[in-house]
Amino acid sequence: MKNNILEITHLSKNYQDKTGEIEAIRDVNLEVSEGKFIVIVGPSGCGKSTLLSILANLDNKSSGKISFSKDNIKVGYMLQKDSLFPWLSILDNCLLGLKLKGKIKKDDKEYVLKLLDTYGLSEFKDKFPNSLSGGMRQRVG
Ligand SMILES: Nc1ncnc2c1ncn2[C@@H]1O[C@H](COP(=O)(O)OP(=O)(O)O)[C@@H](O)[C@H]1O
Ligand SMILES: [Mg+2]
Repeated sequence: MKNNILEITHLSKNYQDKTGEIEAIRDVNLEVSEGKFIVIVGPSGCGKSTLLSILANLDNKSSGKISFSKDNIKVGYMLQKDSLFPWLSILDNCLLGLKLKGKIKKDDKEYVLKLLDTYGLSEFKDKFPNSLSGGMRQRVG
């Protein structure tokens, strides 16, 4: 019996820029079963980040189908380059998404503080990104 948590069929993505169209991925097909740990390997520029950005809903696909087996699946994606704002403290960087949505509650802040603790970053919450190591910045991201 199939126990796929994710199915990708005929997924393609073209980017448009000033010079024209760039075909980033073409006809990607992938099935991922629950509990599987998979690695996507390929040369620089082959479309790995594009695929992950589409899966995390950070970018749109051009064509194809992505189906998750459940509606409440959350896709987390640690970006290659952290996009922390240098002028915000670690805590404020972590709270930014919620702040922009304009609905930050006391519980949310407590949850973020708990997460910082989980990732060993509590004592850095009032520091700024430039005083953290690359790995620590990734964890903040
Ligand atoms: N925002 C973008 N605009 C135009 N082209 C892009 C953009 N992002 C990626 N590309 C192009 O899409 C292709 C795949 O890039 P990417 O997914 O970043 O590859 P990888 O992560 O495997 O190194 C490359 O040719 C890259 O130049
Ligand atoms: Mg990449």
